[in-house]
Amino acid sequence: SPIIPPPPPAPPAPPHQSPTFSPDAPITLTYAATGAPADPLLPPPFTARRVLSTLVDLSAPLKPGLLRALASYTADPTERAALEFLSAKKGPGRDAFVAFVADQALHLAELLECFPSCAPTLGCLAAALPPLTARFYSLTSCPATSPDKVSVAFSVVEWDAAGVGRKGLCTSQLEALVAPALAGAGAGSNVAGMPPLSLTLKPATDFTVPTDLTRPVIMIGPGTGVAPFMGFIDARRAQYAAVGGKPADAAPMRLYFGCRHEAQDWLYREEMEAAVADGTLDALRTAFSRDGPSKVYVQHRLAEDAAELATLITEGGCVFVCGDGMHMAKDVHAALVDLLAPTCGGSKVLAEDFLRTMRENERYVQDIWS
Ligand SMILES: Cc1cc2nc3c(=O)[nH]c(=O)nc-3n(C[C@H](O)[C@H](O)[C@H](O)COP(=O)(O)OP(=O)(O)OC[C@H]3O[C@@H](n4cnc5c(N)ncnc54)[C@H](O)[C@@H]3O)c2cc1C
Ligand SMILES: NC(=O)c1ccc[n+]([C@@H]2O[C@H](COP(=O)([O-])OP(=O)(O)OC[C@H]3O[C@@H](n4cnc5c(N)ncnc54)[C@H](OP(=O)(O)O)[C@@H]3O)[C@@H](O)[C@H]2O)c1
Repeated sequence: SPIIPPPPPAPPAPPHQSPTFSPDAPITLTYAATGAPADPLLPPPFTARRVLSTLVDLSAPLKPGLLRALASYTADPTERAALEFLSAKKGPGRDAFVAFVADQALHLAELLECFPSCAPTLGCLAAALPPLTARFYSLTSCPATSPDKVSVAFSVVEWDAAGVGRKGLCTSQLEALVAPALAGAGAGSNVAGMPPLSLTLKPATDFTVPTDLTRPVIMIGPGTGVAPFMGFIDARRAQYAAVGGKPADAAPMRLYFGCRHEAQDWLYREEMEAAVADGTLDALRTAFSRDGPSKVYVQHRLAEDAAELATLITEGGCVFVCGDGMHMAKDVHAALVDLLAPTCGGSKVLAEDFLRTMRENERYVQDIWS
């Protein structure tokens, strides 16, 4: 169950102090060391609200150093002592920090609720909070065939922090953005009242569908890892159209996709089946992990197709892997080593070398995250 902080001092805690800064008044940023004006990297007007909502990560895991900094802006001596106690590097203070702050993934706003006399300056927050970092999403749309549209596939990051339900910052916002459309309100009905999302396109260099149509393409992407491959399929369809149809010597394009349940979780089922029907995809291999008595993963399908895949790869095929980097990509790598070993004289060491060379030549490319 959640661990609560030490009881507040008596008399009961006063309501929050007024902020030490005005959220929407224009401000100027200067470098602390020199006093020189800082380039805000954002168009004016520059306000405290914008600093806190776009430059620093208010949802980042709290560090003891931040609590130490907050203590010096805390008027009530008992609250200040509690913050100093929680910011200790070791001993009971450290244990209390882990249990109360870290394990519950406490946010700054929740911490400040517990210490109502703490009124940090904007400078304190800007210096102590980590910068807000961009989250990357693979495009499911193909820029060549859909230049005016970008689409992504994402799964909402959710976890239990010592009994407290937590969600990822970006995916929870994306979830709120798409909720009205998913509820049937129609696309575009969703943006009113939502903070704007800043997007930047980062072109892929090596994770792109080969232009050489005689090169086999093997795509492995369970779950949301399938995202870029939908763009690959569109791109390959456009490549075929550009040469007047699929050439007789076109090499196969295969997709290995896995999800928990065929009925609920099969993303892009219609698009995949259409690609098989029109001949863009030569093979679609699925692994539904929770529909049978035991788990079936994409690497099990790779093992079943071992001889065929080894031939395609040694004939110059490209292997693309996308999705979970913590477990899936490693297990898929091991499956590739196993299936290539027979063509390397039975040696897994040589199969590893073969894959290393493929990687250097951008024929084995991973787009993975954990
Ligand atoms: C090249 C690349 C491509 C990507 N493509 C996609 C894509 O197409 N689709 C997609 O959905 N994602 C993709 N990602 C992942 C994506 O960028 C984000 O990391 C992910 O969506 C989570 O963002 P968030 O802001 O919702 O979560 P955050 O707020 O960043 O939360 C993640 C944090 O939550 C905490 N956390 C999460 N789970 C737990 C747990 N079980 N226990 C404790 N703490 C936990 C950790 O502190 C973790 O750092 C990609 C990543 C990369 C690098
Ligand atoms: N119905 C739901 O609530 C639901 C459904 C899907 C996703 N999600 C959430 O979304 C998150 C990410 O979703 P996602 O669709 O990208 O992926 P995901 O559903 O977590 O995984 C996709 C597929 O990969 C399998 N997998 C797990 N470990 C693997 C490994 N080592 N090698 C190969 N395959 C492996 C999964 O099987 P297993 O999970 O069965 O092991 C699943 O079949 C999940 O963590 C989850 O929180 C929720």
